[in-house]
Amino acid sequence: MEVKTSLLDNMIGVGDMVLIEPLSEDTFIENLRKRFEHNEIYTYIGSVVISMNPYKSLPIYTAEKVEEYRNRNFYELSPHIYALADEAYRSLRDQDKDQCILITGESGAGKTEASKFVMSYVAAVCGKGQEVNKVKEQLLQSNPVLEAFGNAKTVRNDNSSRFGKYMDIEFDFKGDPLGGVISNYLLEKSRVVKQPRGERNFHIFYQLLSGASDDTLKKLKLDRDFSKYNYLSLDSATVNGLDDAACFRTVRNAMQIVGFMEDEVQSVLELVAAVLKLGNLEFKPESRCNGFDESRIKDKNDLKEMCELLGIEQSVLERAFSFRTVEAKMEKVSTTLNVAQAYYARDALAKNLYSRLFSWLVNRINESIKAQTKSRKKVMGVLDIYGFEIFEDNSFEQFIINYCNEKLQQIFIELTLREEQEEYIREGIEWTNIEYFNNAIICDLIENNKNGILAMLDEECLRPGTVTDETFLDKLNTVCAEHQHFESRQSKNSKFLTDHSLPHNCFRIQHYAGKVLYRVEGFVDKNNDLLYRDLSQAMYKANHSLIKILFPEGNPAKVNLKRPLTAGFQFRASVGTLMKNLLTKNPNYIRCIKPNDKKAAHIFTDSLVCHQVRYLGLMENVRVRRAGYAFRQAYEPCLERYKMLCKQTWPHWKGPAREGVEVLLKNLQVPAEEFAYGRSKIFIRNPRTLFFLEEKRRQCLEDLATLIQKIYRGWKCRTHFLLLKKSQVVVAAWYRRFAQQKKYQNIRSSALVVQSYIRGWKARKLLRELKHKKRCEEAVTTISAYWHGTQVLNTMQKYFMGLKKTMPSMSPVDKSWPARPYGFLDGMHQELRRIFHLWRCKKYRSQFTEEKKATYEEKLAASELFKDKKALYPSSVGQPFKGDYVEITKNPKYQKLNSLVEDKVLLADVVSKINRANGKGAPRIFLLTKKSLVLADQKTGQVKASVPLLDLSSVSVSTQSDGFFALKLKEGSTSAAKGDFLLSSDRLIEIITKLHRIGAASAERNQINIDISDEFLVQFKQDKVCVKFIPGTPKNGNGVACKRKNNRLLEVSVPSP
Ligand SMILES: Nc1ncnc2c1ncn2[C@@H]1O[C@H](COP(=O)(O)OP(=O)(O)OP(=O)(O)O)[C@@H](O)[C@H]1O
Ligand SMILES: [Mg+2]
Repeated sequence: MEVKTSLLDNMIGVGDMVLIEPLSEDTFIENLRKRFEHNEIYTYIGSVVISMNPYKSLPIYTAEKVEEYRNRNFYELSPHIYALADEAYRSLRDQDKDQCILITGESGAGKTEASKFVMSYVAAVCGKGQEVNKVKEQLLQSNPVLEAFGNAKTVRNDNSSRFGKYMDIEFDFKGDPLGGVISNYLLEKSRVVKQPRGERNFHIFYQLLSGASDDTLKKLKLDRDFSKYNYLSLDSATVNGLDDAACFRTVRNAMQIVGFMEDEVQSVLELVAAVLKLGNLEFKPESRCNGFDESRIKDKNDLKEMCELLGIEQSVLERAFSFRTVEAKMEKVSTTLNVAQAYYARDALAKNLYSRLFSWLVNRINESIKAQTKSRKKVMGVLDIYGFEIFEDNSFEQFIINYCNEKLQQIFIELTLREEQEEYIREGIEWTNIEYFNNAIICDLIENNKNGILAMLDEECLRPGTVTDETFLDKLNTVCAEHQHFESRQSKNSKFLTDHSLPHNCFRIQHYAGKVLYRVEGFVDKNNDLLYRDLSQAMYKANHSLIKILFPEGNPAKVNLKRPLTAGFQFRASVGTLMKNLLTKNPNYIRCIKPNDKKAAHIFTDSLVCHQVRYLGLMENVRVRRAGYAFRQAYEPCLERYKMLCKQTWPHWKGPAREGVEVLLKNLQVPAEEFAYGRSKIFIRNPRTLFFLEEKRRQCLEDLATLIQKIYRGWKCRTHFLLLKKSQVVVAAWYRRFAQQKKYQNIRSSALVVQSYIRGWKARKLLRELKHKKRCEEAVTTISAYWHGTQVLNTMQKYFMGLKKTMPSMSPVDKSWPARPYGFLDGMHQELRRIFHLWRCKKYRSQFTEEKKATYEEKLAASELFKDKKALYPSSVGQPFKGDYVEITKNPKYQKLNSLVEDKVLLADVVSKINRANGKGAPRIFLLTKKSLVLADQKTGQVKASVPLLDLSSVSVSTQSDGFFALKLKEGSTSAAKGDFLLSSDRLIEIITKLHRIGAASAERNQINIDISDEFLVQFKQDKVCVKFIPGTPKNGNGVACKRKNNRLLEVSVPSP
């Protein structure tokens, strides 16, 4: 639920001065002080906001605060500048009323800060979007640029605005900002050439020298040292807490955002540099023959640099500082300038240069921030203008400023009264005339076209003959002597003849805010604001785009012999425009007050505040506001706030709010003249009545609080009691449950014990019975097992005895075995047969001699090599492997041969050696030893060939029943010269087996490969010949025939199997 608050809640002092009681200057200031001490810097006078400068940052401008004040009624929350900004923005947006926010106050009172708060609040609450944000940013960024060029440190304010500023912010129908227009008023240009003690020149000079890069400074022909420039005061060149270099960067950045081109920024800085250079020009007198002194520039270096910067011909400018041309109708008279006049001219040029640059900047910013649409715009104007100034020494500037404030006061009165009156009419309340001081008469004294002070001054300035400030005062003394608000020692009004507080060269005006004494010295000069035409023409001739624009009157083609408009006239005109502009808008006032002269937080100087309260006319403000009805409030919130004061309206009023309020006031017996019923609001004439209601409300709230407290306490006790009662029932229930549970558990456990005893007894009885039964069964089993055992034993005995009798012979090849007598002995019967066979074989083997064993091993090897591979093999099984078939040791024919062979002969036989060329066989003795094989002539025993087994690579045989075999020799071995041997023998199986076994037994050489194939290659000398076995019956009936078919083929015919 939204919390409804009111301005009247938690008030420190009173939040609205209208409610102050009794109203006097003392109570007014006391209220301000009290609020200031509690950091309540804002106080209302009706819809006017008084703002005290806190001189410290307060946490009241946060985003949360913006949200808090957004869309709330003005009086709903404690006074704040945001409330005013919100009210203004909402009536602009929702009711289509153009607004202006008038911020006044003396220097350092916080006007500029206030204007920035208003702008930032509006920026925060209005629409968002890329385009809108750009506009907002440009509007906000125009501030740093204008502040750099238009603000300076003064004794009163470190960032004092030295110009008046009025900014129109333009919005579209939705309330989104479109752009803006800035008007500037009366820049204090005298500051350019001279600054009072403790003050300094405009910020931009110091910012440029501190913040610009070395390169930029070189281009501008400037030196970083402030002391090099006459126009820069040195005693307060730096300001505490102000970083000029950083500010320079901010300004450059802001200029970029606002839309200044790089070359424009450069031109602006060149002008600033030129002003500094101008200040350094010094003059010396030079005597002329006519007896007059003529001024000459002392050191031309600065002049030269300045002319280079601005593109001016040096001689032209030099001449302009020595001569002055006066043109009158057809005549042109040139007079020399003396040193004093030259200095005057120099300063006038510097001031003009700077002030025109400033106006150009404002126009340039306006160009950038100009709204891009032509459709109708809603406007919110923010006026940040110097407040009333009363110094010890008041001159032309103060006079002008105070005139402006008179005008503002006038529209304030006019608009406030008009608003008041409009509200009364709107609400149907009878209008009672309000007594107030109308300052129109003072405005008239100053601005009257015929005999106003400004008109007199202009007249005096234009008058031929000697014109001085004194002649001007004399004129005033004659023309204004009778005016009630004009005072002068020499006026005809004898009243002041003896008034020593009024010096002879002064006049005094009784402003609405107090009396101000003006010293006439300088009025004429300042009003004339004279710049010698030679200088403006010299400037126009400059080859610099910006300078040319700034001095249009220097254009010789447009020589205007009329005198330029006076400063007073221009100001009056611009004030007139401003007033017209403001009158079309709904005004919102912020009156700024500074609490002390020391720029210090926490100090509240009564006299200073009192002074400001007076000249801001705040008392007058309150009086006007209270002249009719001091307080007004819509019926609904009024009834809501006070309904507890009457039984009929409390706690709820069913009818319309107005009737409720009527009943309420009647019941409270408030005198009828104290209030009036409007259409939607109740008007209360006297703050006393409001405070009476507030007091009643406070008491009533106390009573209500007691009542609420009483009811609450009763409710609380009863609730507590009910809770106790409920708890007791719960506790009792739980206890009963617990007791029953315990009892039940006891019974249950007893039952379980009894039950378990019975079960135990039953189980034991059963166990005994079961045990007896089991023993009986075991006895039966044992008896039957014994009986079966004896049966089996008998059977087995019979079986073994039978087997013994029918055992087969001990021959391993005997396959007979008695039949099994019993089926159940089948497994054992077979196993016994296997065991018997193994045992029989073992027995048989154990009878072998070593020789026989070797023979069998050879037979086994032959079987492994040839079984199922060569058809000859089966016929060899029955033949014993005798080895020596030619009885080599005994046969005397082979004695010699035997002696040649060193090792033991493993095989000796006659084989047929196949002729490699024709395939015909020739008998040869074939000897095989462990290391070699030898072929010898059968008849003579002469060795034909001896081949070491190491040279033998493989043996090839056919699968057929023939005895051919090829001994293949290793390539490159000595034996291989003639080629492989192709032999034939009936004992091929034995020969090859032996040959193979030698390889197996020897560690030196690999086992010889045996290839069994019907087609293999042999190497005969160079030829590779294919030996091919063809089954069929050979022609000669020999069984086997070998024939060399060609170089590549040797065919062997073998009988078909
Ligand atoms: N609301 C504020 N909160 C904190 N400090 C403030 C506030 N208002 C003003 N100040 C301080 O006071 C100084 C002066 O304020 P500001 O420049 O707004 O005065 P001014 O009325 O514009 O004076 P001038 O007429 O010389 O321009 C600021 O620089 C700031 O330090
Ligand atoms: Mg300011």
